[in-house]
Amino acid sequence: MLRPATPDDRPALIALGLAEDAAWSGAAPVSAEEAAEYLDGCEPGVIFEEAGRIAGYAATGDGGRTILLVDPADDPGPALEALVSWLAGRGHHEVDGYGRDARRIAWFEANGFTHVRSFFDLRRDISPAPAPAAFPDGVELARFHPGQDDEAAHALIYVDAAWTEVPGHSARSLEAWRSALSPEDRGWIARRGRRPVGWVCGRAFEDGRGWIAQLAVARSARGQGLGRALLLHAMADLRERGATSLALGVQGANESAVSLYRDVGFEVEREWRSYARPAPGSPGSGDAAGTAGR
Ligand SMILES: CC(C)(COP(=O)(O)OP(=O)(O)OC[C@H]1O[C@@H](n2cnc3c(N)ncnc32)[C@H](O)[C@@H]1OP(=O)(O)O)[C@@H](O)C(=O)NCCC(=O)NCCS
Repeated sequence: MLRPATPDDRPALIALGLAEDAAWSGAAPVSAEEAAEYLDGCEPGVIFEEAGRIAGYAATGDGGRTILLVDPADDPGPALEALVSWLAGRGHHEVDGYGRDARRIAWFEANGFTHVRSFFDLRRDISPAPAPAAFPDGVELARFHPGQDDEAAHALIYVDAAWTEVPGHSARSLEAWRSALSPEDRGWIARRGRRPVGWVCGRAFEDGRGWIAQLAVARSARGQGLGRALLLHAMADLRERGATSLALGVQGANESAVSLYRDVGFEVEREWRSYARPAPGSPGSGDAAGTAGR
């Protein structure tokens, strides 16, 4: 029932991702380009086949990331049983689902998982135009040059801005972060003197959805309006590049970011929920010997 995915499966997997989004997101559909990028962010995974048809898919990526897709037309139980076990066998005990996918959530809860956090796509119309970006005194903004600025931007995001302190954010090595940047992404680095203090990057998909991929401000430079200025700058830049709407992702517990985004007009478009259950053999797993399979 499980088999490794091959490059030939990619169109069917994109279609599966789009079918899930149409069924559960409650939002306008994302483009095939965006769905493909989501899939390509993980290593090729495994397909759950039923009667010769792709009925589910799971994959893993860096920083503990997982993908879990199930055909919305099916009873999700059999696919979840197989795919969640496959993920657990690779050390992944946290899985996601759309907040509206009540059957998947019921399956998680019936199988020992508990809700650990929610994360959201936020969306804003392209109009009204964003307010002009006002950078704090002494801060200069420059275009990010891939290759030349990689190490500085990566250290700023993951060390100075403590990216992983936000629950749900994962660590990325320099190499993994670099390869997650699409050639379409345009990044900006804010510096005070020679020191990087802020970062934002974004890109416009072909369907016009402007996506702000990452925003970070060094802890030492927070609370001075730099995050807001970087965000407004990226929004204006995407607008100039032809974006017809704006969107970004945020962890629900990231209160400072959520209030900033709401303040410039973003509203919730989709909710995902992460569920976790203890690894077999860990405290709370009910498996004292640590050898029981699932
Ligand atoms: C989110 C982040 C970019 C904000 O940067 P910042 O430079 O401190 O933000 P600003 O000074 O421009 O503040 C903008 C708004 O954010 C909100 N905000 C900032 N700090 C806050 C805090 N500690 N608590 C609550 N709200 C806060 C406020 O709405 C503030 O509005 P105000 O200017 O009217 O007070 C920064 O905290 C950060 O890099 N965090 C870690 C990485 C991260 O979470 N990035 C976003 C991922 S989606």
